[in-house]
Amino acid sequence: MRPHPIVLLVLTTVLATPACQRGTAAPAASAPATAPAGQAATDPLAAQGEYLVRIAGCNDCHTPGYAERGGDVPTSEWLVGSPLGHLGPWGTSYPTNLRLSIGALGEEEWLAYTANLHTRPLMPDFALRQMRERDRRAIYRFVRSLGQAGEPAPKALPPGVAPPPPYLQLVLPEAAAATRDQAPVR
Ligand code: HEC
Repeated sequence: MRPHPIVLLVLTTVLATPACQRGTAAPAASAPATAPAGQAATDPLAAQGEYLVRIAGCNDCHTPGYAERGGDVPTSEWLVGSPLGHLGPWGTSYPTNLRLSIGALGEEEWLAYTANLHTRPLMPDFALRQMRERDRRAIYRFVRSLGQAGEPAPKALPPGVAPPPPYLQLVLPEAAAATRDQAPVR
């Protein structure tokens, strides 16, 4: 009996997919990404930080491909920053490499920095400012446990400068856009 054409098609697709991407072809079947053995495994606060990063959406923007891969990204690839620009009246912002940002700060410095963080959109800086100190400390411990990795994200572009793709664009109604344009860029 000859194999069914669909079976052949699936086989060809699997074989044509590099091993590094194959796990992402069937997220439902693959096990959820787990942290490498490190501080997160031993420090309960760091483990809490991993949970917070996962559910507070930090990966949605700061981890490349996180949404596309349905969240099935190993922690070793988390928070390395993204080349996906966020374009709006503020110019273009890029989710930064938090592995490098946090790697460069002491724990107390991170707490002071995030308690008063003001950034461009789409970063929800208001959420971080209101996050309990213990939770911000937990995020710090977890990200430190991952170590520094990756390159700095592209630098933000000022309003009026067209970013290269890929980027997301926020288009406001004209009146609202005019009002926003007058607001100082933070
Ligand atoms: C909707 C997208 C989005 C989400 C969700 C998000 N960020 Fe950001 N983040 C950004 C962008 C874009 C920037 C760059 C802002 C700028 O250029 O001013 C940024 C900047 C930052 C900065 C300041 C720059 C730096 O590296 O020191 C920190 C700290 C930060 N994010 C932490 C977090 C944490 C922690 C979370 C999860 C609780 C998070 N972000 C969730 C998009 C996001």
